[in-house]
Amino acid sequence: MPAPEHLTTLSSPELAAAKAAAESGASIVVDYFEKGVTMRSKGPDEHHNLVSDADEESEAAIIESLTNSLPGHTVFGEESAKNETAEELNQVDHLWIVDPLDGTNNFAHHLPHFAISLGYYRRGVAAAGLVVNPVRDDWYYAVSGGGAWHNGEGISVRNDTSLSSVMVGCGFYYDRGQMMQATLKTVEAFFGEGIHGIRRFGTAALDLCQVAAGQFGAFFEYQLAPWDFAAARLILEEAGGKITDARGEPLALKISSILASNTVLHEDALALTRRFHP
Ligand code: IPD
Ligand code: CA
Ligand code: CA
Repeated sequence: MPAPEHLTTLSSPELAAAKAAAESGASIVVDYFEKGVTMRSKGPDEHHNLVSDADEESEAAIIESLTNSLPGHTVFGEESAKNETAEELNQVDHLWIVDPLDGTNNFAHHLPHFAISLGYYRRGVAAAGLVVNPVRDDWYYAVSGGGAWHNGEGISVRNDTSLSSVMVGCGFYYDRGQMMQATLKTVEAFFGEGIHGIRRFGTAALDLCQVAAGQFGAFFEYQLAPWDFAAARLILEEAGGKITDARGEPLALKISSILASNTVLHEDALALTRRFHP
């Protein structure tokens, strides 16, 4: 799954390093996807939240690749993170936030819709982002100020001014209680606005890229972690989109609800997510 040549023309050493790291993680993940791998639950109360050797080996390969290419950079990966706070992460000069396999549940059920996500931050400010679906060879990437790209083509959000003409993406965290109920109520409220449809594809990093690429007018989820959105948030913003938490507060590098949109629809969508926010 070679990355598009165009990616290297953006002259970003960080994006070039992200590409090499993503390729090393991707080959591990795709190999396991083809041959099969045993899935395990992350904890006794989290039996829907799965992990496998694919997640762990992909993360190890990505960390090795990034730290070889960029000595002195720090990697915060889903499978090896401690409990670093947003304040601590914002102090790091060169920080990578990595999801080595986003969409693990799809992966476990042999649905070829999952991603590797690498976001690069300088003291809390997003500077580069790369999200790849290695099965479909879909590469989304951005560097700050350089636009948003999908397989070498510039992308931008759609320009609809009404929820009644867009498709909306959503996500369900692993909770099967209050948060699930709130999500369902919000979905119903979006339907009440006459949207064209709701989609739940199961890979938050790609969902956000689909807002960036103009496929979704908006996307919401009531709980995501920094590794889910760190890379795609820059891709979305560079594509002209807006991302906040689902109450409209600025997004921080911590567990958070999310609302992403084409910017124009943000307030209309926020009115719904605020109403049902758990
Ligand atoms: C999950 C996916 C999913 C979202 C969950 C995430 P994971 O990440 O992004 O779409 O709904 O909230 O945790 O566990 O597959 O890396
Ligand atoms: Ca994830
Ligand atoms: Ca993951």
